[in-house]
Amino acid sequence: MKILVTGGAGFIGSNFVRYWLSHHDDANIVVLDSLTYAGDKANLKGVDAKRVAFVRGDIANAAAVKFAMNDIDVVVHFAAETHVDRSIADSQVFLKTNILGTHTLLEEARRREGQIIRFHHVSTDEVFGALSLNEARKFNETTPYAPKSPYAASKAASDHLVRAYFNTYGLPITITNCSNNYGPYQHPEKFIPTAVAAALFDKPIPVYGDGLYTRDWMHVEDHCRGIEAAILHGRPGETYCLGGDAERTNLEICRSVLALLGKSPSLVSHVKDRLGHDRRYAIDGSKAKRELGWEPRWKFEDGLKETVSWYRMNQALWLPRLKQK
Ligand SMILES: NC(=O)c1ccc[n+]([C@@H]2O[C@H](COP(=O)([O-])OP(=O)(O)OC[C@H]3O[C@@H](n4cnc5c(N)ncnc54)[C@H](O)[C@@H]3O)[C@@H](O)[C@H]2O)c1
Repeated sequence: MKILVTGGAGFIGSNFVRYWLSHHDDANIVVLDSLTYAGDKANLKGVDAKRVAFVRGDIANAAAVKFAMNDIDVVVHFAAETHVDRSIADSQVFLKTNILGTHTLLEEARRREGQIIRFHHVSTDEVFGALSLNEARKFNETTPYAPKSPYAASKAASDHLVRAYFNTYGLPITITNCSNNYGPYQHPEKFIPTAVAAALFDKPIPVYGDGLYTRDWMHVEDHCRGIEAAILHGRPGETYCLGGDAERTNLEICRSVLALLGKSPSLVSHVKDRLGHDRRYAIDGSKAKRELGWEPRWKFEDGLKETVSWYRMNQALWLPRLKQK
């Protein structure tokens, strides 16, 4: 099977390339990535070059997409602008990549009728909006879309386009909406790497507002397994919500990171809140458990310990990115 991984030089995409190669002996992969500030070929260092071809190109460029999709059986679409704060500062590139880029991929896939046996779109729980801290409700596949940030709105639009290509053209798509990921190779602009980097150098860890913003954390390896399950066992046209079963507040995470590194809790520094900050996300992953036989395996405390240790051991990889932030 030959698969196209868009955004394969980013955090989850590079973990997915490693995961797929190590679980599918017959697989060959084409990575299509434009190498924005968030992508780095170094994230793919050590992967078998005989089985992975790298194409530098923009998913919104039809010629690049046509070239990369040649002979492909399965498309796994990760490429996106992903940082909420950047989307609040300037959302234009989010619309171009996340919406027009997804549309360009869909057009090329439908043009190749019968060739693409699965188009898997990787999305986020942020499309569903926000939950309050104490409500029992969680997001699931029937939750109405109510994105709040420009990032979430652009991902919501891309989800709708992907579904439209199933309904209109019969393109065999699946979508996964996943909760917040953590693990190796994440860009240091994101929350957990920011906290680890600050703590390692005894700098204050910036925590938005009261620090009670709550996310459902998932180890990236569990996410990769969930995507694999959706591709291999998911029904075309279906959406699967993937949750980590590990709701934690930002304050709890900071305290855990500081404890793991033996640093003082006084490094927590409350800063001005993000505009329109969503209070809580949580996912009910029962459909994925029932239909795909998938559930997260990592216990959050073990995954965080492994992640903190990875950042400590791999500073040469992420320190230059931290300086560019
Ligand atoms: N990180 C999370 O917690 C999380 C949770 C749920 C869903 N997701 C989704 O998973 C996907 C991957 O997220 P991530 O955290 O790995 O992102 P990331 O920012 O680490 O990586 C994105 C990758 O896409 C590439 N890219 C960006 N624009 C491109 C373009 N126009 N053409 C080609 N390549 C381009 C970048 O160079 C980079 O390699 C995204 O679609 C995101 O919405 C992420």
